[in-house]
Amino acid sequence: MKTYLVTGGAGFIGSNFIHYMFRKYGDQIRIINVDALTYAGNLENLKGLEEKYHYEFVKADIRDKKAISAIFKDNDIDYVVNFAAESHVDRSIENPEIFVETNVLGTLIMLNSAKDAWEDKDGNFKEGKRFLHVSTDEVYGSLEDPDDYFYEDTPYSPHSPYSASKASSDFLVKAYVDTYHFPAVITNCSNNYGPYQFPEKLIPLIINNALHGKELPVYGDGKNVRDWLYVDDHCKGIDMVLNGGRIGEKYNIGGHNEKQNIEIIHIILDTLKEILPDDDDRKKNVSEDLIKFVTDRKGHDRRYAIAPDKIKKELSWEPETRFEEGIKKTIAWYLQNEEWMEHITSGDYADYYEKMYGRR
Ligand code: NAD
Ligand code: TYD
Repeated sequence: MKTYLVTGGAGFIGSNFIHYMFRKYGDQIRIINVDALTYAGNLENLKGLEEKYHYEFVKADIRDKKAISAIFKDNDIDYVVNFAAESHVDRSIENPEIFVETNVLGTLIMLNSAKDAWEDKDGNFKEGKRFLHVSTDEVYGSLEDPDDYFYEDTPYSPHSPYSASKASSDFLVKAYVDTYHFPAVITNCSNNYGPYQFPEKLIPLIINNALHGKELPVYGDGKNVRDWLYVDDHCKGIDMVLNGGRIGEKYNIGGHNEKQNIEIIHIILDTLKEILPDDDDRKKNVSEDLIKFVTDRKGHDRRYAIAPDKIKKELSWEPETRFEEGIKKTIAWYLQNEEWMEHITSGDYADYYEKMYGRR
């Protein structure tokens, strides 16, 4: 039985990954989820897993050397999947420091702890060990020419403190491969959407605001383009790269689904109108009149677009969920999980919202 150490598994993609893996492998695998439970970590995302599967939660910070090496000492870890990060660009513009601490220093500590546990005295690594670092397409910067795409060899050109910190962590992973022959792989994925996403990010924020009749803030002219992928398709890619990817390589993951932000907002409004029953009070809140163009994000990247040719060719990865279907599933999930959203938005989120949007 393989033992996975998943960091950041209480966040959006990490928790979806844990569900995906248990759905696929059941009790053939064991997962240890290490998460510091920052504002973005939520154990509600993982309810009931302990009773059903070989699953364990450890509250620890990836910057905590002692705690992380103790986990490696106490368990024979086969695979590390490193999701833990500060992940929101707007927060990185307000407070860059924590992004360097978690995303750069935290990743270094994960790499070093795995190296210590997996390397013998001659500098050789035990068979079958893998470290997968989960990264983003934002490290490549912003595309201007509509015919351009991000490839694995596109030079890094990050603009936000978030993407700069992720780029730094990718370079550290690469440095461990090149220097120590450390068994790592990197994935660079486009924007994800799906259940359990924290409502500071565009799609859940718009769904939540529309349902409550709150303004829908559109940064700048709303024409910035993101390449959206349903979260399970990302999880599928991570599983494939972990099990079949070549050590030292990086793989871009994306499903060629580029949309302007304003288009996304209209799709959400149309879908809400379509699927909410007429007798649901929330339906009358949903209106285009809520759309409000607000001050642009500083340094706002214009367009991201992934060329997923390599992962398709080498590992036969294909996305399974078309956007029209994925966004319906996602909206339906948020409608059915109002309590989940209420728990999140009733805490510090209100202060965050006021600070970010109050005078925008
Ligand atoms: P998220 O913010 O929803 O979750 C991050 C998780 O990491 C939370 O559970 C949080 O508690 C935990 N965490 C934060 N700091 C930690 C620390 N110091 N120690 C331990 N745990 C800590 O993020 P997400 O959207 O799920 O993203 C996960 C990863 O995927 C990130 O590395 C991100 O850069 C990458 N990524 C995200 C997207 C996207 O669209 N969301 C796209 C590509 C790549
Ligand atoms: P976001 O979900 O923060 O992801 P990222 O910045 O990592 O791509 O934002 C997606 C796009 O939506 C981005 O171009 C910024 C824009 N946006 C808004 O227009 N309004 C908002 O309130 C938010 C959160 C984002």
